[in-house]
Amino acid sequence: MDHNTSAADGPELAEPYLREVLAGAGLAVEYVRAEGNTLYQRADDGSEIAVVDFAGGYGSVLLGHHHPEIVARAQELLAEGTPVHAQFSRHPYANRLAAELNRIIHRELDTTEPYFAIFGNSGAEAVEAAVKHAELDRGMRIRALLDECAEAGRSTRAAVASGAAIVAEPVLTLFGLTAAEGDPAAALSLLEAELDRRNAEQTARPPLFLALEGGFHGKLAASVQLTHNEGYRAPFKSLAAQARFVPHNQPDALKEIHAEERGDLLELGVADGHVVVRERGFPVFCAFLVEPLQGEGGIRVLSEEFAREIQEFCAAIGCPVVIDEIQSGMGRTGTFLASSALGLRGDYYTLAKTLGGGIAKTSVMLVREAYYRKEFEIVHSSTFAKDSFSCHIALKVLELLEADGGLAYRRAAERGAALRTMLGRVQADFPMVIEEVRGRGLMLGVEFRDQSDSPSPAIQGAARGGMFGYVLAGHLLRGHRVRTFPTASALNTLRFEPSIGLTDAEIAQLEAALRDVCTLLRDGKGDVLLAV
Ligand code: F0G
Repeated sequence: MDHNTSAADGPELAEPYLREVLAGAGLAVEYVRAEGNTLYQRADDGSEIAVVDFAGGYGSVLLGHHHPEIVARAQELLAEGTPVHAQFSRHPYANRLAAELNRIIHRELDTTEPYFAIFGNSGAEAVEAAVKHAELDRGMRIRALLDECAEAGRSTRAAVASGAAIVAEPVLTLFGLTAAEGDPAAALSLLEAELDRRNAEQTARPPLFLALEGGFHGKLAASVQLTHNEGYRAPFKSLAAQARFVPHNQPDALKEIHAEERGDLLELGVADGHVVVRERGFPVFCAFLVEPLQGEGGIRVLSEEFAREIQEFCAAIGCPVVIDEIQSGMGRTGTFLASSALGLRGDYYTLAKTLGGGIAKTSVMLVREAYYRKEFEIVHSSTFAKDSFSCHIALKVLELLEADGGLAYRRAAERGAALRTMLGRVQADFPMVIEEVRGRGLMLGVEFRDQSDSPSPAIQGAARGGMFGYVLAGHLLRGHRVRTFPTASALNTLRFEPSIGLTDAEIAQLEAALRDVCTLLRDGKGDVLLAV
């Protein structure tokens, strides 16, 4: 959930709007301290009020707020006077971080192919780096194709000049051309000009991205065009390349989009003494963006079968797969990458959130050697990316995840299962209120049934006004000291992304809170829901 301003809102409208939503739902509280799975408010008498945090920084604090070892490392770095800004020098810590990420990913994917790391400062920035890299690579592939077409044109011309090949009428009529008889050079020029024109038309097409319906990849100029939510995307359409959004579990939709959008470059050649025109597939698709487990779009798991279909489709058309693990990765679902459990292999990966250990703002884009273009490191950079502080903190995060034979991953799976069992229990007792429990590990969602027709005018109004999830979150906070949020693009779904330190007592506290909310919804007690 993130309500930044948009051009349509205007900056002076957006802020009050965000305040209204927070205040309307009773969520406009200040947290003064954070530790583990707990955020603290300050009461009027000066004491602290503990709130169990299931929002977890939108998935940024898998290891808990202010993990003592991460804090100690940060303090050590500052005490040592570690240079934070030493741009354009050797970055051994960044190399170590890249090597460690490779070691973990290699183990999980059972591969040895290196992934090159490009560092950034936020999730959206890592996505933008992937988008830019994929476009740089696509452009270089197009140029190589055009060079091959030009070379084929030269040898075809030589064959016609030497009389080894003729330009027969059918190849001309194929392109709506007619040439004077007896002048093969002129006929060839005519044909060449037509192919050049068509090739120029093809290469002038903007790149096209593929992304999943319900996906979220950020809100910067390019990444927001890959984010499905139209409210975020539409005002900025003209700023960047567009995506075609693919519905889940519909492989035929992939084929249809491909058939609609595919294109060819045309190349001259000689076959059996005749000039011919060959089609060379044009790489119009720049990349396919995939979240293995959609977060902001409502905690939706990509099915293994569709993951395989996407993989095969992209391999067949030569389109790189960008797996966005910004929220699902870093161990949250029980494996370092949520996609590895689905059997999905990325040509690119993006990681952020937990990579910064809850205190550094950092992200990374990883690109497979087969796609990597070394030119990218010159054309893409940021003053703040790859800084020593963030890299050292991220190394500490990886160390903590990997410690004790991967205890943190096992804990994410085990705590996630315990939380899910509880959520399932509540759903079983309130099937009229809860539609579905979804997710993996510590990335879980509870979808509530639509309450637009609730007998309670207050609940009905909240549901119709798009405030339903926020109202539930407000009640959970005020009434039960439990913090969660709806997923911003699927407002009936509450998200639960606590840290691996989640205790049974915290699960029990959430259970009591959810049972109360479900009872109030079932009984149409909107006044209580909104008041307490
Ligand atoms: N990709 C995914 C899968 C994300 O979940 C997010 C952010 C981003 C990219 C963008 O990262 O905010 O650091 O620029 N998700 C937040 C959410 C906003 O509500 O889940 P960012």
